[in-house]
Amino acid sequence: MTAPISQQLSDADLLEDGQRKMEWARQHMPILESLREDFERSQPFAGEVIGMAMHVEAKTAILAETLAAGGAEVAITGCNPLSTHDDVSVALDAVEGVTSYAKRGVDGDEYYEAMEAVIGHEPTITVDDGGDLVFAIHEEYPELIETIVGGCEETTTGVHRLRAMADDGELDYPMFAVNDTPMKRLFDNVHGTGESSLASIAMTTNLAWAGKTVVVAGFGYCGKGVARKADGQNANVIVTEVEPRRALEAHMEGYDVKPMHEAAAEGDVFITTTGNRDVIVADHFDQMDDGVVLANAGHFDVEIDLDALGEKAVDSYEARDGMQAYEMDDGRRIHVLAEGRLVNLATPVSLGHPVEVMDQSFGVQAVSVRELVEHGEEYDAGVHDVPDELDEEVAKIKLEAEGVDIDALSDEQEEYMNSWQHGT
Ligand code: NAI
Repeated sequence: MTAPISQQLSDADLLEDGQRKMEWARQHMPILESLREDFERSQPFAGEVIGMAMHVEAKTAILAETLAAGGAEVAITGCNPLSTHDDVSVALDAVEGVTSYAKRGVDGDEYYEAMEAVIGHEPTITVDDGGDLVFAIHEEYPELIETIVGGCEETTTGVHRLRAMADDGELDYPMFAVNDTPMKRLFDNVHGTGESSLASIAMTTNLAWAGKTVVVAGFGYCGKGVARKADGQNANVIVTEVEPRRALEAHMEGYDVKPMHEAAAEGDVFITTTGNRDVIVADHFDQMDDGVVLANAGHFDVEIDLDALGEKAVDSYEARDGMQAYEMDDGRRIHVLAEGRLVNLATPVSLGHPVEVMDQSFGVQAVSVRELVEHGEEYDAGVHDVPDELDEEVAKIKLEAEGVDIDALSDEQEEYMNSWQHGT
């Protein structure tokens, strides 16, 4: 059984580094700070055990400590073998009420053993990013479901998985689709993924964006952010899509839209953001120029067919930290970042989304957990939208923290907006 991280890595420097990173994040997370003050007073989570599987870095650590400050016992592990910051995991494990099992660079078995260690705490609430924890509980420990109040899911792919489970009648407790709230998706997926993916690629490669041709696969929330930020860095952006309205939107935004088999021959940097599999495959590798860089920002490492690339390559070596080169028999080199895993979280220099963005996403997580504790019994098994007033509550805290004032509807305006009698 996996031991808590501080029993695996006991190093005072790690602890101090992790605490410093958490302190910096804390200073820029006014939403969680405000909620923590409430939770400390009201102790809404007393008696609850919150099991979490998330990217364990500084911002997530502040969410975990906020839930613990509200009286919860928190057990946490990673949701990706490469995204954990060990120093933060050690510092988080030292927080009262929190046990962290997350470790960077684990193999598949160790990844699931750490998840089992979290499940061993017998969570009453789950907080997931990608759905692995919910799935493991349903597959291996269904006896726990009776005492689970509900859970929250952070990302698009996790919500898709949960909806598929629900459609098959296999989801046995209520789950909030935190990803689908405006306060999460319109900021985290768009701005967060856009900024942090480009930052990770630039820092890992030390190459410029200006003048590059960047191929963005998928023009959903994440793809829009990546395309917009790449455009803002003076790159030429090509978008690939399979959904006609999204493709048209990209076209009307001024991007070049074409199929991947054409884009493959033109791109310098490729970034996949589809949440789908096999987006860049063998035929595409054949057409790519020497030196291209491939990165994935979708949740799972299935968007770039690395098996096919490995089979085609006559040689493969680490060209830089976090970047593998695959050499083709004609001498062309194709570079893949972070083993095709989430590029903004899984390269050695990755920091994940900007702190302010995660404050919003995790603010929604925190109020959703509170909703489960207060009203969990009102929700059936299945996927639920987070109540809009909770999302609004988080937006108001953020606006206040930013010192931004807005207008309020007058009674007459309210009445007008809700009536159907007013016409021409
Ligand atoms: P979305 O559903 O809004 O967008 C995905 C887009 O990809 C859709 O427009 C879809 O039509 C398109 N697509 C699907 N298959 C395609 C193919 N073969 N070729 C081209 N386009 C294709 O989803 P969203 O919110 O943009 O999320 C995308 C992925 O990113 C998910 O896996 C999600 O979990 C992940 N994600 C990653 C984050 C990160 O930090 N890197 C943050 C948030 C989400």
